[in-house]
Amino acid sequence: MPENDDPPAPGFTDAPSTKLLTDQPQPARVYNALLGGKDNFPADREAAKEALAAFPTVMTGVRENRDFLRRAVRYCAEQGVRQFLDIGTGVPDEGSTHEVAQAAAGEDPTTVVYVDNDPIVLVHARALLQGTGPCRTFYLDADLRDPQLILEQARRHLDFERPLALMLVAVLHFLEDSDDPYGIVAHLLAALPAGSLLVISHVTADYRPAEIKRLIATYRERGMSAQARSREEIDRFVEGLELVAPGVQSVARWNPDPDPDRVLPDAAAVSCFGVVARKPGAAPSTAPASAAGGLT
Ligand SMILES: C[S@@+](CC[C@H](N)C(=O)[O-])C[C@H]1O[C@@H](n2cnc3c(N)ncnc32)[C@H](O)[C@@H]1O
Repeated sequence: MPENDDPPAPGFTDAPSTKLLTDQPQPARVYNALLGGKDNFPADREAAKEALAAFPTVMTGVRENRDFLRRAVRYCAEQGVRQFLDIGTGVPDEGSTHEVAQAAAGEDPTTVVYVDNDPIVLVHARALLQGTGPCRTFYLDADLRDPQLILEQARRHLDFERPLALMLVAVLHFLEDSDDPYGIVAHLLAALPAGSLLVISHVTADYRPAEIKRLIATYRERGMSAQARSREEIDRFVEGLELVAPGVQSVARWNPDPDPDRVLPDAAAVSCFGVVARKPGAAPSTAPASAAGGLT
């Protein structure tokens, strides 16, 4: 994978160096390796192999998480939300947030701000910046542990007077308790208007404690922070919000697409919870002042 010396593409808020540290596995690349992608290095593939040995159904969890992301984005767009702040973007894959959101929004313009702290995602940000149709996309190279910076930069592109979807999909388990993940989510949520939607997915050790403990250890042993959380701990992220049915649920069972031929994997094989929750209160219009439509 060559390093990228090109000038920043339009839409980059920031253009830091893109040192990939190829000898150390990185969460985005390990995830890409597990998804069968090509944007990874031997150290990432080795970590993915170890993850598979620790938790043999890890690929089921990864694929179900990706499908959850797509269904959750579609749900948000169907509710009239046209702005997405997607933190922990990952390497672009088929059905990225902007593609799904814009497909569901039709001709209605959608804005997506992607945020990640991994240089590999930055390298791919040019692909993420290819909005489809009327979609506008932006990329921020930033760390979830600095929510204030993310908000300041995201405000340049998103209208915080209108509901938006905050996506924290498969990223909070890279924050350990010492990072104050609850404080970070509360900080981000406090900036959002009523009617905004929070989308979370998160690895849990509730079903296969020994395997998931080992999985987490394989990440930590390789210098990647990681922490599984229980159902109760994931509930805490959405305290005070209105849960979209079915609430906190295995990602595989969160509003699955109807398919009589498909047998859903069991929650233990997936070991990842997903939830969509709405910030309560009277929502301002989801449409910009100049446009019609949106939620009533
Ligand atoms: C497992 S991938 C999930 C990608 C995508 N959200 C999905 O669910 O398909 C996790 C992503 O979170 C990013 N990430 C991890 N810790 C982060 C942090 N502190 N700040 C920003 N991004 C982070 C990683 O670089 C990686 O791209």
